[in-house]
Amino acid sequence: MDVPRIVILTGAGISAESGVPTFRGPDGLWEGHRIEDVATPEAFARDPVLVQRFYDARRARLAQVEPNPAHRALGQLDAAWPGELLIVTQNVDDLHERGGARRLVHMHGELRSAWCLACGARHRWDGPLSGDPACPACGARGRMRPDVVWFGEMPYHMDRIYAALARSDLFVAIGTSGHVYPAAGFVEEARAAGAHCLELNLEPSLVSGRFHETRTGPAGTLVPAFVAELLERFRLAQAS
Ligand code: APR
Repeated sequence: MDVPRIVILTGAGISAESGVPTFRGPDGLWEGHRIEDVATPEAFARDPVLVQRFYDARRARLAQVEPNPAHRALGQLDAAWPGELLIVTQNVDDLHERGGARRLVHMHGELRSAWCLACGARHRWDGPLSGDPACPACGARGRMRPDVVWFGEMPYHMDRIYAALARSDLFVAIGTSGHVYPAAGFVEEARAAGAHCLELNLEPSLVSGRFHETRTGPAGTLVPAFVAELLERFRLAQAS
């Protein structure tokens, strides 16, 4: 039997039960800020201190949060799945890695990475970027920015992601609202490839209608159940 090729897209909802706030709360604000005041290149040019402080606070908070059962279940799937698998996260936290995921790409960048605008080098970064730290590669001060993809910027790893979607047999979207493209359009790519498309989300997303199946509930419950089901189905198919 051919092993199904899987692409999994995750969004803020998978980290909600770890205590990381989602983006689109009922008040339309992102931790008290309008998105365009903190998550655009224009905002960074206009008020770098505010933007660095905002991301510094989010980076610092990573030390206080832990992966939840949904991250851990995907880590188990990654370790156990004998075929192609790609986990594509829109999240900038590191909870997938800490939950054991290895075949993982961060399409919107990572909080724990800093990018030097002077020399282009990227560095693992756990502390603050406020206070104009020097780039460890070129020594320039005040040129490091969070290595996250802001509105209007090109997401990372797109060639690899589209190649995986074009080969996929199963596409699963977890905890993402379907507001932000290109990620919200991945379901179309997977459908075009003939993949079965499954959505796991607290509530139907904006693009639920494009999935073959939607299961609603908290990721910490739905994802472990889905992974157990998938591994069991695969074990049975192999045995038969
Ligand atoms: N379990 C499952 N889903 C959940 C849970 C939960 N415990 N809690 C919330 N959700 C769902 C919400 O119902 C919503 O549909 O997760 C989704 C989160 O949506 P958003 O906050 O819009 O997050 P996301 O889709 O990841 O945003 C995409 O927008 O601002 C940008 O770059 C940022 O990567 C982000 C992108």
